Amino acid sequence: MDYFNEYTKNFDLSEYKASYKYYHSIRVMDDMEIIARNMSLPNYDVELAKCIGLLHDIGRFEQYARFKSYDDSNLDHGDFGEELLRKNNVLKNYDINESDYEVVYKAVRNHNKFEIEDGLTERELFFAKMIRDADKFDILYAFGNKETRKIFEDDDSEISEDVKEAFFKNEVIKRNSHITLSDEKIMLFAFAYDINLNVTKEMIKSQELYHKLYDRLDNKTKYQPYIEHIERYINERDD
Ligand SMILES: [Fe+2]
Repeated sequence: MDYFNEYTKNFDLSEYKASYKYYHSIRVMDDMEIIARNMSLPNYDVELAKCIGLLHDIGRFEQYARFKSYDDSNLDHGDFGEELLRKNNVLKNYDINESDYEVVYKAVRNHNKFEIEDGLTERELFFAKMIRDADKFDILYAFGNKETRKIFEDDDSEISEDVKEAFFKNEVIKRNSHITLSDEKIMLFAFAYDINLNVTKEMIKSQELYHKLYDRLDNKTKYQPYIEHIERYINERDD
């Protein structure tokens, strides 16, 4: 925690978009702890999970300072985060066995990718899945709980046909260049299709995150079929 606080002092956190990532990191650390404890992991693994949560977006701060944007086509913040951790030997500041450094690196590198890369060990894969869940959980939480200033303004944009089609086929939606503001909402709703752990799914359900998201939407009729579909999916998915 101390390293993270010291490191982030190098950046102007008075700007909302930068401070958002600071608090997101803290919340994801807490979510990782909740998930890990719910899975009855040993204490050391809980600490490892928390460390991954805290550091997963470490690449965001410099990315924002350099580009004033979170667009990963400028700089992939997962790859860049891993690079920072390695270069500055950051993990020596945390109580983590050296044999687990790769677990952290691979979780950070894979947290923001469309899919987890092949070739991970079982342990690396497990923590990569956990951070992807905790990250998505917090993004859904933030949009539904006024942590974000406003759920993206509503505009008159159409929901693209390919986005609509993928959504109702229960597929995660890929970001592309012609994505509309309405598509972005559908993309967020579709996060549930990429939740790995049953524990996370139960947290989304018990906190009624989709219901809270729906409450914050301006144009409810436009999105109602989507919210209903995703709520049904999450309630009926059984794993
Ligand atoms: Fe991220």
